[in-house]
Amino acid sequence: MTASSVIISGLGTSIPDKVVTNDDLSKVIDTSDDWIRSRSGIGERRLAGENETASSLGAAAARAAIADAGISKDEVDLVIVGTMSPDMPFPSTACLVQAELGLGTVAAFDVVAACSGFLYILEVGAKLMKSGAYRNALIIGAEKMSSILDWQDRTTCVLFGDGAGAAVLSLSDQANTGVGEIILRADGSKMDLLNMPGGGARMPASAESVSARQHFLKMNGKEVFKNAVREMGDITLETIEKNGLVPDDIKCFIPHQANIRIIESLAKRLQVDMSRVYVNIDRYGNTSAASVPIAMWEARQKGYFGPGDNILLTAFGAGLTWGGAVVRWPE
Ligand code: COA
Repeated sequence: MTASSVIISGLGTSIPDKVVTNDDLSKVIDTSDDWIRSRSGIGERRLAGENETASSLGAAAARAAIADAGISKDEVDLVIVGTMSPDMPFPSTACLVQAELGLGTVAAFDVVAACSGFLYILEVGAKLMKSGAYRNALIIGAEKMSSILDWQDRTTCVLFGDGAGAAVLSLSDQANTGVGEIILRADGSKMDLLNMPGGGARMPASAESVSARQHFLKMNGKEVFKNAVREMGDITLETIEKNGLVPDDIKCFIPHQANIRIIESLAKRLQVDMSRVYVNIDRYGNTSAASVPIAMWEARQKGYFGPGDNILLTAFGAGLTWGGAVVRWPE
């Protein structure tokens, strides 16, 4: 086959059963449904069970995506996972997913780009496929954020949730379709705004690091918010332009679900009605690298877009990292 495009041929999700509402949280920490809802748009989130991890959620989402693509698992020849809450520091969560799915010895690795993870693995996956070396890649955003949250810190723990979303990337001979131009950016000089200080070589686990709660996510919410509004707006406009399009050419906008106010400010900046922007933060909170693929799966199921439509994906997260992508859904 003379492949001219890399398409998203299948999507799948895995969302834990356990629902935790804002009211549930207000019974264990000093918060309220009103505060969380008005500041973030979150109403509830899903939390993984004890035996669920990024790899088990990721493998379940991947199985669903393989079925959706209508291929056999033996046709998958590359696995890339985006996660900031891996099962363990090493080996990669992608290796664990590969083993759980029984994919033989196909290449598998993780990309750490926090909440921008799915945009990063989409770019890496699509470019590797375009090289001609792979035919079907699994790209998976999978998170057990609940394992890295400080449940005593009300400024962060109320904002996140667990889940996984996966896509199969396949080569296609349909011209002008599939994954278009992607823009990725990062600014490591702002790493202090959102990070997990403990557990790496700078601060290996010790009795002191554990008692100082250094193995949990730390965030300067106000600064992250300001950067997210500015950078997601800029990169979205830049990405649309780089694809030779204008906002009206985009059928559905699928932003990372971090805060409804960030999403609404993006829509305002683009002068796009919120009816064209997919939102599910009310039900899942911020599932980091899983947020864009879960939202894309739901948006497709609900008919927000269909064959031949352009969709716009954008995300922002720790690093700092951010990105934008246009994908034209195959006919
Ligand atoms: N419940 C009740 N009160 C809370 C609270 C909670 N869960 N968390 C914080 N507060 C309090 C703070 O202690 C502070 O009180 P103080 O003013 O008495 O010191 C006050 O609420 C802060 O409120 P406000 O300034 O209105 O917060 P905000 O408008 O900056 O919203 C965030 C806070 C975290 C929701 C917002 O900054 C945000 O969403 N940032 C981006 C986070 C994000 O998306 N991160 C991931 C990026 S991928």
